Amino acid sequence: MLAKTHVFADTHTMTDRYAVVGHPIAHSKSPQIHSTFAQSTGQDLSYTTVLAPLDGFADAVRAFRDSGGRGLNVTLPFKLQAFELATDAAESARMAGAANALKFDGERIWAENFDGVGLVNDIVRNLGVTLAGKRVLLCGAGGATRGAILPLAAQGPACLAVANRSADKAHQLGHEFASHLGALRLQTGGYAELAGERFDVVINATSTGLGPDALPLPDGVFAPDALAYEMVYGKGLTPFLRQAQAAGVTRLADGVGMLVEQAAEAFVWWRGVRPDTAPVIRALTVPLV
Ligand code: ATR
Repeated sequence: MLAKTHVFADTHTMTDRYAVVGHPIAHSKSPQIHSTFAQSTGQDLSYTTVLAPLDGFADAVRAFRDSGGRGLNVTLPFKLQAFELATDAAESARMAGAANALKFDGERIWAENFDGVGLVNDIVRNLGVTLAGKRVLLCGAGGATRGAILPLAAQGPACLAVANRSADKAHQLGHEFASHLGALRLQTGGYAELAGERFDVVINATSTGLGPDALPLPDGVFAPDALAYEMVYGKGLTPFLRQAQAAGVTRLADGVGMLVEQAAEAFVWWRGVRPDTAPVIRALTVPLV
């Protein structure tokens, strides 16, 4: 009885602790984003970074929880391990096979993956682009695409396609997601198979945003008035965005809005209060030049 009272008193008088865990982690914008959210919503919390050793993710998570931590964001390279560590995973995390947010409740570890919903919220609410009835192409078949498929499908696009360098990996996603998409069929294949097809929204979910390579997208893949969306943020015009621009696309976006929107979803999940994302996106935006 006494112990229970003590725990109750602790959790209600101490500032709630959250953090982002990764390796490396110093570059993360999450502390800035969540601290701004906390300030603007009047929530009493602290948000820091945790650098976990590459072979010590689970221990780092438990240590953070045991020292009073309430929840964690998870970034590279631990998103898969975070999902495996969870006792209770949301569908978003199960289908992605990866988690980007954890919540602690006694011995239970709840897992979510807000990357996909963050992407969709950015496209629909911030960029004002409707996805319903549109032809949408996801380039890449890794974790970023896995997280995006269900939230994109939920918007009711006319077509949802996944193209990947290794077509087999795209086909594999088609099989895995088939029973979760209702009447929508995921169109999958290599880049060359996109010849003659045209998309209203083209999303780069490959890691090429971090390097010099452009994707081998056939001419004409961007519809007039298309949105070209690069998931990587803060790198200016990436090879993919340059490619889109050269094809005449004028609606170009990088992933800064996705980053802030996924953070907002985690904040709501943890705190039950929705923060205003617009000023945070403005503060973090690097011009696309
Ligand atoms: P993430 O979890 O960020 O999605 P990932 O699972 O390693 O990362 O996936 C990286 C994606 O980028 C893959 O779709 C990969 O294509 P392959 O499956 O064919 O490897 C894609 N990718 C990486 N470098 C690429 C390049 N130079 N050209 C085309 N696709 C590339």
